[in-house]
Amino acid sequence: MSGTILKYPSHWQKAFQEGRKISMATCYDYSMARLLSRTNVDALLVGDSLGMVIQGKRSTVPVSVDEIIYHAEMVRRGAPDQFLLVDMPAGSYHASIESAVANAMEIMKRTGADGLKLEGSSPFLLQVVTRLVESGIPVMGHSGLTPQSVLTSGGYRIQGKTDDSAALLKEAALSLQAAGCFGLLLELVESSVAQELTEHLNIPTIGIGSGAGTSGQVLVYHDLLGLDPDFSPRHTKKYADLSGTIIQAFNQYDAEVKDGSFPGVENSFFK
Ligand code: KIV
Repeated sequence: MSGTILKYPSHWQKAFQEGRKISMATCYDYSMARLLSRTNVDALLVGDSLGMVIQGKRSTVPVSVDEIIYHAEMVRRGAPDQFLLVDMPAGSYHASIESAVANAMEIMKRTGADGLKLEGSSPFLLQVVTRLVESGIPVMGHSGLTPQSVLTSGGYRIQGKTDDSAALLKEAALSLQAAGCFGLLLELVESSVAQELTEHLNIPTIGIGSGAGTSGQVLVYHDLLGLDPDFSPRHTKKYADLSGTIIQAFNQYDAEVKDGSFPGVENSFFK
């Protein structure tokens, strides 16, 4: 960490300056937001990962502005006071700076989000970031693996493994910081590269699959809670194994309905 401290949310700034790690988890609905609002997790992300884990699609690309707003509104209702970040969906910030600002403002106004996250670092994208920040919208960058452009960037692979790609990641990170990002999400970046980037920046980095050297971490809650029995990639950790618990609960319910033990007297109403 060096240089001037840029503007970003105050509790992140405090954690970052005091050298404390920042925790973030995805969230897509009211019930989970209510639970998360009772935890110490620092920030919620309504990620476009909802396209895959909620909608069952093959990538994050099909998610629309209306869909992200629909989910973010629910999360905000469940967690009115938590720091809430929302992803700008694929294509919603690429046609022109004007349409990017319009879409960003629409998301901010309808959801009560505290900031937006955008993928990439092209010259055009840097202009978009600058304009959004000028418009008063806190922006988090997203570098490394950027799932919205996975079809043109070579698939779901660890980024920064060669000197050239590490240098490009560093250039991207510094440009995003200069454009006004308050933080940078690093997805699937080789660990020593992610650590080095973090040391060169004066904004916090939030890692996923990028090792322990970032300023904080984010996980998709389905991975964290073990909700998908068929998905256990190396970069996630199952803090619970709820898929088994949930399947067992439904099977017990089914058995009790069929053997007549549910509803019991205690679940029934009498004159
Ligand atoms: O959409 C998402 O959930 C993300 C992950 C990288 C956390 O951006």
